Amino acid sequence: MSRELGIQAIYLASSVLFILGLKSLTRPAFARRGMQQAAVGMLLAIVGTLFQQEIIRFDWIAGGLILGTVIGYPLGMFVPMTAMPQRIAISHLFGALAATLVGVAEYWHGGHGSTIGHGQMAALGFEVLFGALTVTGSFMAFGKLQEFITGTPVTYRGQNAINLALFAVTFGLFGYLIFFPTATFLFYLMIALALCIGVLMVLPIGGADMPVVVSLLNSYAGLASSATGFAIGNNVLIIAGALDGASGFLLSVIMSKAMNRSFGNVLFGAFGTPQVAAGAKTAEGLTVRSVSAEDAAMRLGYASKVIFVPGYGMAVAQAQHQVRELAELIEKKGGEVKFAIHPVAGRMPGHMNVLLAEADVPYDKLYDMDAINSAFPETDVAVVIGANDVVNPAARNDPKSPIYGMPILDVDKAKSVIVLKRSMNPGFAGIENELFYNDRTSMLFGDAKASLSKLVSEVKAL
Ligand code: TAP
Repeated sequence: MSRELGIQAIYLASSVLFILGLKSLTRPAFARRGMQQAAVGMLLAIVGTLFQQEIIRFDWIAGGLILGTVIGYPLGMFVPMTAMPQRIAISHLFGALAATLVGVAEYWHGGHGSTIGHGQMAALGFEVLFGALTVTGSFMAFGKLQEFITGTPVTYRGQNAINLALFAVTFGLFGYLIFFPTATFLFYLMIALALCIGVLMVLPIGGADMPVVVSLLNSYAGLASSATGFAIGNNVLIIAGALDGASGFLLSVIMSKAMNRSFGNVLFGAFGTPQVAAGAKTAEGLTVRSVSAEDAAMRLGYASKVIFVPGYGMAVAQAQHQVRELAELIEKKGGEVKFAIHPVAGRMPGHMNVLLAEADVPYDKLYDMDAINSAFPETDVAVVIGANDVVNPAARNDPKSPIYGMPILDVDKAKSVIVLKRSMNPGFAGIENELFYNDRTSMLFGDAKASLSKLVSEVKAL
């Protein structure tokens, strides 16, 4: 078997593992296996590439491996779950930077376009354009999520028109370069403009909408890598980049849908400002019933059907372990406990699943929205742990609400509801929640972790 055939066979095995990995990631029970399959796929892709004949010196590669490990290991091991969205953003930055630099190196290698054909220039131009805008876009997303750049949308007059014009000019340059690859100045001008697009594109988007943007940038980074594969003739890059591009795009669309927002509204709507949205109901004249941990524990200890509804507040409080402990105690006392998972609870896809898995909550106790909604009317106590928008009945009842039409968990249909949160502050959408004023709802105010710890000791003492 020739060396080239061997490399292509390794690439094929690697691509199959990437696809299997993606498939496994669709079910929480197999997600860990999916990550392992994809990691082995990546290892094979690297090994296959190291067999390439063009590689004549390994010292730079060894240096890169060491540097990558030094940066990657702490990123993987020590970044807390709550900081995962910004960690992912920074990973996209690295991926896109790699694609852009490979593109620039190839352009140099090709005598600044003089030995580059039109087809190769199309791939190369696409690679650096999408790569460069993903670098700065991801940096902005990282900054907004890490809050060293303002999380509120930054808008100004004519913003969309300016952005569109910039897009048009940059794509115009890209088109020109396909036919005239030796226009070196325009090549670098295109990269500079793409870097500006990344910044300007993310500026008007609110910090809390960043996960959708991060997922879109994931897609761009994937497309840039796929183009790199075409530019340098590497099949595994083409396939892996295409998988990344398609899955990132689909995820952005799914997230927007689950938030009942159009994709355009996320990108151009300057949403995510924490204020009471126009037209939404306010809570004047309504009363709120608060409950003590002792009384709440009494209800939970003697309930026969309990549903836990985790939300962003559980992630902030890092209360997943206390949630599991309380669930086990209720079960020991003879109650049945289920977990209701809304597709956009928290701030990233699968946020709740990941946290509950970390706390060893069995997968078979997690129910998707569609599977659990019919169970609420028979439920004695629904415990809302730092969730707000995903249980807001205004999505069903108030056509003026900005979240009207968003599918929600029907918590208000339970026989009684206990809500754990710190105050009456709104959630991500910035609107009142009539569930908190419902006759059957009791509020247990405080940090979710502290409240759950109190509940655990009170239920133990029953
Ligand atoms: P939110 O509506 O954001 O509400 C979270 C609630 O948690 C807040 O009302 C807050 O109230 C409470 N909280 C915060 N820290 C807490 C703590 N330490 N202890 C107890 N409570 C705490 O959360 P949700 O219901 O999960 O909804 C998610 C929202 O994010 C949706 O609007 C969704 O569209 C949006 N979104 C989701 C995603 C993905 S992919 N998941 C991506 C982008 C946007 P207090 O301040 O009073 O405690």
